[in-house]
Amino acid sequence: QPTLADLAERHGRYFGSATDNPELTDTAYTKILGSEFDMITPGNGMKWYATEPQQGVFDWTSGDEIVNLARKNHQKVRAHTLVWHSQLPDWLTSRQWTASELRAVLKKHITAEVRHYRGKVYSWDVVNEAFEEDGSYRETIWYKTLGPGYIADALRWAHQADPHAKLYLNDYNIEATGPKSDAYYRLAKELKAQGVPLDGIGFQAHLALQYGYPTTVEDNLRRFSRLGLDTALTEVDVRMQLPATEEKLAEQATWYRDLTAACLAVRRCVGVTIWDYTDKYSWIPAVFPGEGAALPWDEELRPKPAYQALREALR
Ligand code: G3I
Repeated sequence: QPTLADLAERHGRYFGSATDNPELTDTAYTKILGSEFDMITPGNGMKWYATEPQQGVFDWTSGDEIVNLARKNHQKVRAHTLVWHSQLPDWLTSRQWTASELRAVLKKHITAEVRHYRGKVYSWDVVNEAFEEDGSYRETIWYKTLGPGYIADALRWAHQADPHAKLYLNDYNIEATGPKSDAYYRLAKELKAQGVPLDGIGFQAHLALQYGYPTTVEDNLRRFSRLGLDTALTEVDVRMQLPATEEKLAEQATWYRDLTAACLAVRRCVGVTIWDYTDKYSWIPAVFPGEGAALPWDEELRPKPAYQALREALR
């Protein structure tokens, strides 16, 4: 039977999964990872703490492992992520930087990493999670030291290092319209007007049944498309309060179906990535105690109703 990737390809879309290096020794896991998907995102392996653990000392081991596996399986890679406030190395966070020092540190990191993966990745999440819920800039080390211009700078440096990679801004809680999504809309418009190399907006879509489905997602994707940008659902999962019941799993399935249908309905929504594919390796239980069962395959790697719902949406 056709895979999710096969079905998505018929719509000119991809269907992807995140993965992480420690999981790659699990052969039952890698078998499905290598067959159902045509896009892979490293969940941690390309983040700053992993790639520049000491200042000026680069380590591509984890990222390379995933890029090589993806290539072996004829999959593309959504590379993640260059500029974020989280998972930074100690050398970076444990001292004060002047603006000109930090600008140089950022430029060097982006240039080295994007160059290393030049020609090997489909896209980069250049800046991750730059805004607060109310649409104000998140007070990160980048914003506080460099001001809002760090975003345009990061995009320009990434574009110089790999002119063919699609460059994205990526965030959560922007699937529905609202202040945070509006902040991206304004910023994207401004960056396009200034000729800054921005190709797309990534909507993470870490959803939770208890908060209700974001019914405006399709309209929201469409307004970004109209700015001349690609859009993508980049980190989809749908968590619930445990235990998972048949009712909750059925509800979750409709969310996966509707999210996928929303992407298919918007011309420039290029694909969907789930934030790993099995509950066995989901980040949710560690961060939201008592919640989980967020992915389309269960902890024993058996497909859940959500998997069938994805197939229906793509059929
Ligand atoms: O590397 C250490 C390891 O040495 C240690 O033994 C272990 C013990 O807990 O922790 C390991 O670090 C963990 C790291 O993942 C690597 O596995 C951290 O504790 C853990 O917090 C970290 O979680 C990651 C999280 O980002 C951090 O914010 C998740 O795996 C990763 O899936 C998640 O991904 C993010 C996206 O990048 C951005 N959007 C939200 C998404 C979910 O949080």
